[in-house]
Amino acid sequence: MVSPVIQRPIHLTHQHRVAFTHGAFEPANHTLRDLIAEGAELDGRGRVLVLLDEGLLAGNPRLPEKIGRYFDRHGDAVQSVSAPVILPGGEGCKNDWPLVETIWRAIDFHKLCRHSHIVAVGGGAFLDLAGFAAATAHRGIRLIRMPTTTLSQGDGGVGVKNGVNFFGKKNWVGTFAVPFAVVNDLDFLKSLPAAACRDGLIEAIKVALIRDRAFFEYLESRAAELSRLETEPLERAIRRSAELHVEHIATGGDPFELGSARPLDFGHWAAHKLEPLSAFAVSHGAAVAIGMALDLLYSVRVGLLNRATAERVIALIEGVGFRLWSDFLDKNDPATGLPAVLAGLEEFREHLGGRLTITLVPEIGRKIEVHEMDRDAVIGALADLRARAEASAPRATTTPSR
Ligand SMILES: NC(=O)c1ccc[n+]([C@@H]2O[C@H](COP(=O)([O-])OP(=O)(O)OC[C@H]3O[C@@H](n4cnc5c(N)ncnc54)[C@H](O)[C@@H]3O)[C@@H](O)[C@H]2O)c1
Ligand SMILES: [Zn+2]
Repeated sequence: MVSPVIQRPIHLTHQHRVAFTHGAFEPANHTLRDLIAEGAELDGRGRVLVLLDEGLLAGNPRLPEKIGRYFDRHGDAVQSVSAPVILPGGEGCKNDWPLVETIWRAIDFHKLCRHSHIVAVGGGAFLDLAGFAAATAHRGIRLIRMPTTTLSQGDGGVGVKNGVNFFGKKNWVGTFAVPFAVVNDLDFLKSLPAAACRDGLIEAIKVALIRDRAFFEYLESRAAELSRLETEPLERAIRRSAELHVEHIATGGDPFELGSARPLDFGHWAAHKLEPLSAFAVSHGAAVAIGMALDLLYSVRVGLLNRATAERVIALIEGVGFRLWSDFLDKNDPATGLPAVLAGLEEFREHLGGRLTITLVPEIGRKIEVHEMDRDAVIGALADLRARAEASAPRATTTPSR
């Protein structure tokens, strides 16, 4: 017997809007006001609750008052329901489930509905938390993300994912939800410590490598200034990185990652393992730099990439100030005696589901997917990485200050 199946395609169109600005909360800046006004409720005034990453306050102590004044000034179009709610940021906030309930409680208390807006201002971790709470309250309240780190402005904050850590696993609970808008205020980058500021550059190099040779050459041409985190090339790098990430999400054919491939995660299988191996002492950016170098050296070993190109890319990664070794790579799995980082391959497959799919780069600006990684060649690439680090130890340990 064949049972009848009702089958209808459901087509949805999302607008993914990413604005770039300076001084988003200066009274004369209309970026945020216009975005909210455009989606305003029937009474013509959009209701807004601002959530603020506490980590921002050290460098911007007057920010809550400034935000308050901004909404007072634009009260004709925007109705702020309370002073900004200040909550902890950083990876710790994604490990703190009660914070999700704190945000839900504020949403309920202020009677926010699906036509209201949560404006989340903070680093990538904070945006993941706020985005998850917003996406699940009433099955989805409009979210305006305002990323405040290079990494979140150029990569995570302009994406369509959110989530918090659960069962001790990263991003175990979360949703895919296209934000109502993203506002990248480049002025926020000024208060970032140098290492955190550098972190976003690796995602720019990554996306250039897989999608845009001309951008890669631009980064090469400005490497010395980028290593000093000079404003003009840094802002250009972050803008282009954001643009390429959005382009990939919009045109790559799999925005909600239903397949097994994740090309934007070039170099990430090892990085995602190295971060927890170091108890997050190695930042995401620093880990991705190492993960990319590892995959480049691996590609040379298996004949997918010529050595000169690998050296060229590695020179850029080191040139902008990343150190391509971590002693946590020396950790071995007690059961197998093999490098513990190797387990990252299976964990990467598990998180995405389906077949192992790793993105590699056969030439600058082009990617390919492979479905297996030769274990001995990965171990060999780790040895190559160590040898390079030992040979260039004095240079590699120099981290230019801002
Ligand atoms: N959703 C996604 O698609 C996606 C993609 C990539 C990464 N992520 C997530 O992003 C997180 C990492 O984000 P991140 O690199 O932005 O770091 P982060 O959010 O962990 O922030 C690092 C620290 O900087 C502080 N901070 C934020 N902005 C600041 C500023 N302008 N000045 C001074 N301090 C500031 C924060 O309070 C925090 O203490 C990870 O949890 C990662 O999983 C998400
Ligand atoms: Zn990344």
